[in-house]
Amino acid sequence: MKTARILGIESSCDETAASVVENGRVMLSNVIATQIDLHKKYGGVFPEVASRQHILAIYPVIEEALVRAHMSLADIDAVAVTRGPGLAGSLVVGMNTAKGIALGKSLPLIGVNHLEGHVYSAWVYSSDTPQPPPAPDFPLLALLVSGGHTELNLITDHMQYQRLGATLDDAAGEAFDKVARLIGLPYPGGPSVQKAAAEGNPEAYAFPRSRMDGTWNFSFSGLKTAVLRVVRKLQEVNKVLPVNDLAASFQAAAVDVLFTKTMKAAHEFGVKEIMVAGGVSANRALRDAFLNQSEFVVHIPPLLLCTDNAAMIAAAGYYHFANGQTDPLDLDVLPTWPLS
Ligand code: KG4
Ligand code: ZN
Repeated sequence: MKTARILGIESSCDETAASVVENGRVMLSNVIATQIDLHKKYGGVFPEVASRQHILAIYPVIEEALVRAHMSLADIDAVAVTRGPGLAGSLVVGMNTAKGIALGKSLPLIGVNHLEGHVYSAWVYSSDTPQPPPAPDFPLLALLVSGGHTELNLITDHMQYQRLGATLDDAAGEAFDKVARLIGLPYPGGPSVQKAAAEGNPEAYAFPRSRMDGTWNFSFSGLKTAVLRVVRKLQEVNKVLPVNDLAASFQAAAVDVLFTKTMKAAHEFGVKEIMVAGGVSANRALRDAFLNQSEFVVHIPPLLLCTDNAAMIAAAGYYHFANGQTDPLDLDVLPTWPLS
């Protein structure tokens, strides 16, 4: 197949993003307008504020992505856009913009699953990278950890997912965000917990590890409740919260559960490679846990591509495009849309 350049558009949550990616891997541009500062005062994403902000940001972000790739829409072969899962009002902004471009320029439209985007973020590298990283090899085990999802998937080939298990309650990122709020750290919780944890003792509190043995599922609500109990007890006696120790002990428990279960599944399913992707894959302790073992080849996206971006959507979109899987212009958004 000749070179294909995909314009990716992502607006499922609180980042408005656009990117141009060549042949599913080479990132020619990657523009992200984050709304973090707008949502900080609410302690989480305010859906109505998010969709309004996407409307304001989306055209400049797409234009910037084309400029940085030294391209115009005439150089683009297809438009890939996040179809779901995500916030309905936010998804619609990206979808309608993508449809407008596809219709106006007679380009194919490809609706991409956001989680599939996170998977493909591990394939992407910047065009100025001297030595491209090897592409993941199938079959591989993928731990997807984001603000909305936590699941283990066996990926047997491009776009072939077999879900082994998932969280039964909070997603890993959600647990970081909620615990951050409990101990008085700012939104988004993941990065602030990580920062505080770096100054704390991970063994200060023996928080529970919910193993969910006999399944490939996860559960983080017990861990969150355990943190809440300690916080309440300390507050009752007017003690200053040992924020760093609480953050470090929580992070250690969360990482332990994610790492241990993923390793166990990798052994059980006989894969040679593990992929970790999604916002929580930006976590230093989680990255180190996987990078410090030597039994499996590990693919983790660069920090820039762990959290939401459009390069991952363009990359995933490419594989659909190359397979002739494009979508009609009346495509609807899917706020809940499982990967497999
Ligand atoms: O993938 P993502 O950007 O958005 C969703 O698809 O949900 O993930 C966002 C989640 C948030 O819950 C955020 O707190 C978490 O990823 N996160 C982290 C870190 N950076 C972002 N969690 C732990 N450590 C981090 N360094
Ligand atoms: Zn995401």
